[in-house]
Parts: sequence; structure tokens; C-alpha cells
Amino acid sequence: MRAIALSQYGGPEVLSIVDVPDPVPGPGQVLVRVRATSLNRADLLQRMGHYPEPDPKPAHEILGLDVAGEVVQAPSGAFQAGDRVMALVAGGGYAEYALVPERSLLLMPTGWSYEQAAAFPEVFYTAYDALVQLPAAVGDTVLVHAAASGVGSSAVQLLAAMGAFPIGTVGSAEKAARVLTLGAVRAVNYHDEDFVAVCREFTGGRGVDGIVDLVGASYFERNLQVLARRGRQIVVGTVGGVQATVPLDLLMGKRLAITGTSLRSRPPEEKMALAQAVKQHVLPLCETGRLAPVIDRVYPWTEARDAHQRMESNLNIGKIVLSIS
Ligand SMILES: NC(=O)c1ccc[n+]([C@@H]2O[C@H](COP(=O)([O-])OP(=O)(O)OC[C@H]3O[C@@H](n4cnc5c(N)ncnc54)[C@H](OP(=O)(O)O)[C@@H]3O)[C@@H](O)[C@H]2O)c1
Repeated sequence: MRAIALSQYGGPEVLSIVDVPDPVPGPGQVLVRVRATSLNRADLLQRMGHYPEPDPKPAHEILGLDVAGEVVQAPSGAFQAGDRVMALVAGGGYAEYALVPERSLLLMPTGWSYEQAAAFPEVFYTAYDALVQLPAAVGDTVLVHAAASGVGSSAVQLLAAMGAFPIGTVGSAEKAARVLTLGAVRAVNYHDEDFVAVCREFTGGRGVDGIVDLVGASYFERNLQVLARRGRQIVVGTVGGVQATVPLDLLMGKRLAITGTSLRSRPPEEKMALAQAVKQHVLPLCETGRLAPVIDRVYPWTEARDAHQRMESNLNIGKIVLSIS
């Protein structure tokens, strides 16, 4: 089969389509003909050699955490050849075929295109799981950093759907306008406004109940300032750095709870359980049209270099998809 496999690390120019051996399904694995995959921030890091695949490492390092396509071969009657499916995978999405553990595979919502389905797993699983861990409750005001990103746009939609009030930080007026259409009650363009002041004003001085932080160190201290008493924060991303100073007086005085999460480092059983939780709690809202992944652009996979360049330039609103013909 053909795949985008890394033979060296570096800029987008290292991405090219090469021939690799066809995957052979093992016990409990479904063979999927991949029709679309999508970019995640982790792909950029992996391409540069900063984010190795979890063990056991495959013979060929193929990028891609999302797949959408049709079942070719399934180990039991749970799926049939031709079923339109999607999945979060540990790697190997930028390829014509992928292997997926049966319990990680989900049927695509009715009427979705392969491009929509490929834009769903990683970002919606991450956002859903972060909100469960936070936890976010009905009526909470929750600050979402990088709200126009793939994960951010998913978190904003989930919060609005559950009856919470998301406030999103973004880096442009266009992104601000878009997150408002997704259900944010307020958008903060950080080039023009300070999110601490905006959130304090919005909450009548109380502060926000929760923060879904996709940025990390550069926001950490201000996050503690803007959290309400007994506020909660979950660190999901670190595009703004990993080393932060913790004002312990704020942590203690407000009795704050800070946690973090990573999907990639979890054992396969936990990822399968998350897929099943998403199937139960999130997919019904996709079926009704209440939730849908935000698609920035679809590129043919032959243009993966341009797609990576666009994400690296922080231009995307929502997901960049690669269609695999
Ligand atoms: N923990 C997990 O399991 C997990 C899973 C998936 C993703 N993530 C993380 O979640 C984040 C979002 O991922 P994604 O794939 O959705 O990303 P994405 O669509 O590429 O969006 C990332 C956005 O972050 C903003 N940004 C970049 N550098 C920044 C900086 N230095 N300070 C403030 N904002 C910055 C930019 O938006 P603006 O123009 O609005 O600033 C950029 O478009 C990433 O940090 C990623 O690593 C974590």
C-alpha cells in the first residue's frame, strides 16, 4: 500500500508518499480501507522527531491519529465488510489501509462524509474526556484556550450542548467570530484583550469555574488568577511551553484543583473504553446534528506538505483533513 511514512525528521518537506507493506490483521483487529485522515498538532511534533510513537513501535513510522473509511475485513460479526467507520489510532492514519482494534472502531454518524468522520476522533475524544475529568457541570462558565483549534472547537461545542457557558481565547477576529457561532458566550482575541479582565467582568468578578487549557505554561499564572474559588483546570496542550511557575498562595487560598491529561500515553484498553464512552454520550448528539467537527480545509493527501504548513502557521479554524484517493 501507499503511506506517508517518515524516513527522516524535519519540516513539511520530509512528507512524501511511499510504498510500504500491506498491514496484516492480528487477533481482534479490523482492516480498514482509509478514505480520509486528519492533522493533529501531535503530527507536527512527530514529524520533527519530538513525539515518538508509543511502544510497540511499528517498522514504518506512519503519521496519523484519525482514520475514516470502510471495513475490508473484520474478525467477528460486530462489523461487516463495507461498513463506514471511524477510529482513533495510535499512528498509521496517513495510509491507504489501517488496522484498528475492534472495540476502538465506531460506525460513522448517518450522512457524514469520510472527511467529516476523519475530523472527529482525536479532537472530540480529547475534548470530551477533558470535560469529564475537569469535571464541567451544567451552568459552569468554562474558559477554553485556543478555542478555534481542533480540540478547542470541539470543547466549545460540547460545553454549549451540555448547558455550560464557554468563553474562548483565540488569535484573530475571524477565529473569534467562528467560536461564537459554535456556542461560545464570549470570544477573547488575545491580541486585543486580556482574558483575565474579560472573564472577571463577564462573571461579575467571581472568576471562571473551569479552564480547558490547550496552551500551557505561558497562561498558567493568569489561569490561576482568573479561576473562581474551588475552580478547576485541566492542562491538555502545551503550545505555550511546559515549564510554569505555580503561585502556591493562589492554589491554596482559592482551593484550586489542577490536573492534566494525555491520550497518547494511555494503554489501548483505556482508549477503547473512551471510544465506547464517546459512542454512548457524544455520537447521539452527532446523529441529531447538534455536534459536528469543524472543518477548516480538505487537502488531497498528495498535498500533505501544504496542509502541515497551514497548521504550523496557526491558520486553521478547526480541522485540516487529508483525503486519500
Ligand atoms: N492531551 C491530549 O491528549 C491532547 C490531544 C490532542 C491535542 N492536544 C493538544 O491540544 C492543543 C490543540 O491541538 P489541535 O490539534 O486542536 O491544534 P490546532 O488545531 O493546530 O490549533 C492550535 C492553535 O493553538 C494556538 N496557539 C499556537 N501556539 C500558541 C501559543 N504559543 N500561545 C497561544 N496559542 C497558541 C493557535 O490558535 P490561535 O491563533 O487562536 O492562537 C493554533 O491555531 C495542542 O496543544 C495539542 O498538542 C492534546
